[in-house]
Amino acid sequence: MNLLAEKRILLGVSGGIAAYKSAELVRRLRAAGAMVRVVMTSAATGFVSARTFQALSGEIVRCGWSDDQSGMDHIELARWAERILIAPASADTLARLAQGRADDLLAAICLASRAPLLVAPAMNQAMWRHAATRDNVQRLLERGVQVCGPDTGEQACGDVGPGRMLEPQILQQVLSDSFANGRLAGLKVVVTAGPTREAVDPVRFLGNRSSGKMGYAVARAAREAGASVALVSGPVALEAPTGIQRVMVESAQEMLEAVLARIEGCDIFIATAAVADYRPVAPEPQKIKKQASDWSLQLEPVPDILAMVAALEKRPWCVGFAAETEHLEQNARKKRMHKGVEMIAANQVGGELGFESDNNELLLVWEGGERQLPVADKNLLADQLVEQVADLYADQNTAHEPLENHAKHSA
Ligand code: CTP
Repeated sequence: MNLLAEKRILLGVSGGIAAYKSAELVRRLRAAGAMVRVVMTSAATGFVSARTFQALSGEIVRCGWSDDQSGMDHIELARWAERILIAPASADTLARLAQGRADDLLAAICLASRAPLLVAPAMNQAMWRHAATRDNVQRLLERGVQVCGPDTGEQACGDVGPGRMLEPQILQQVLSDSFANGRLAGLKVVVTAGPTREAVDPVRFLGNRSSGKMGYAVARAAREAGASVALVSGPVALEAPTGIQRVMVESAQEMLEAVLARIEGCDIFIATAAVADYRPVAPEPQKIKKQASDWSLQLEPVPDILAMVAALEKRPWCVGFAAETEHLEQNARKKRMHKGVEMIAANQVGGELGFESDNNELLLVWEGGERQLPVADKNLLADQLVEQVADLYADQNTAHEPLENHAKHSA
């Protein structure tokens, strides 16, 4: 799910060299399907022309009261916006917002709007550190304004320190996150995805057809539900979803190590990877040469990552996947018990669904319940799966909450 699609974003641009980066931000937001209207302060027009933003946003850009054609444009814009982001937000702009001024168009829109306000400060490091700016930022935070950044580093003036505007890609993610439902907010989720490759020799491996699409969709859905996500991925041709820590691995052993290195403090583990069940006992260090006679390869089982995670003393809430050719529900329930996990997402393999397809269907089974997710795009299925996990995870945590907390809640 693209959280920015059709969203109405009002971008305020105030004076600062970082204004040129906001042009890229508009381009990115439009590419993500958002509608963007730009309001510039007069200081901003000294850095980037209104035409640049007009061309990129496809909308009229307003630079001051003289552009408020009807005299009510600022109210219309204030109502139109679902989010207001001011990027860059200069020291002067922060001060004006903190005071609740309405003597320029952008400040007046912020005052008239009920949309959540985000600011991306950009200024010289000494101005950012100044007590007056600190006070202004504090007042804005207390009013619920989301202050994004600034970054620390080399500045246009030659100074080094805090005051650089966050990069457009990060600001896009922040805006996207602001539309997320937050069901998994504050939780750490680890997801495995894709196939593994078990080396036979330096050029050959045992692998499978997993595309990784389901796992990547699950990682994205968990991220959009507010979780911090680590994605441990076998070799696939997919781009890393934004805002996710991706670790690429090859073999089941590497996948296991990468998972265990990230499992501490993990709340939910979702194993979607099609891990090889067997690997060659002794991969050859040199390329194996053709021979006239028959040749056989001795295999040994690989470690079961999901079962190992589920057996840890301090274990996360675990979800496994199961591809079955028959007796779907029965086998899924058996696998859930056998692996010792909270939920199994099972799908029938064979036919057109499964590994390389964009669509799938899933049967979710857990103790005392099940839910059928009919054939749909893997992205939609991932959203539904994450929603179900969030429900069960929340129920379980309420059930295990100490009694005194129950008393607190009911007081
Ligand atoms: N899995 C894993 N490590 C393995 C094998 C599987 O973490 N070495 C995980 C998969 O990511 C999936 C689940 O276990 O979430 C089920 O895998 P599956 O291959 O269907 O089950 P198996 O235990 O291998 O049983 P079988 O092949 O007999 O159905």
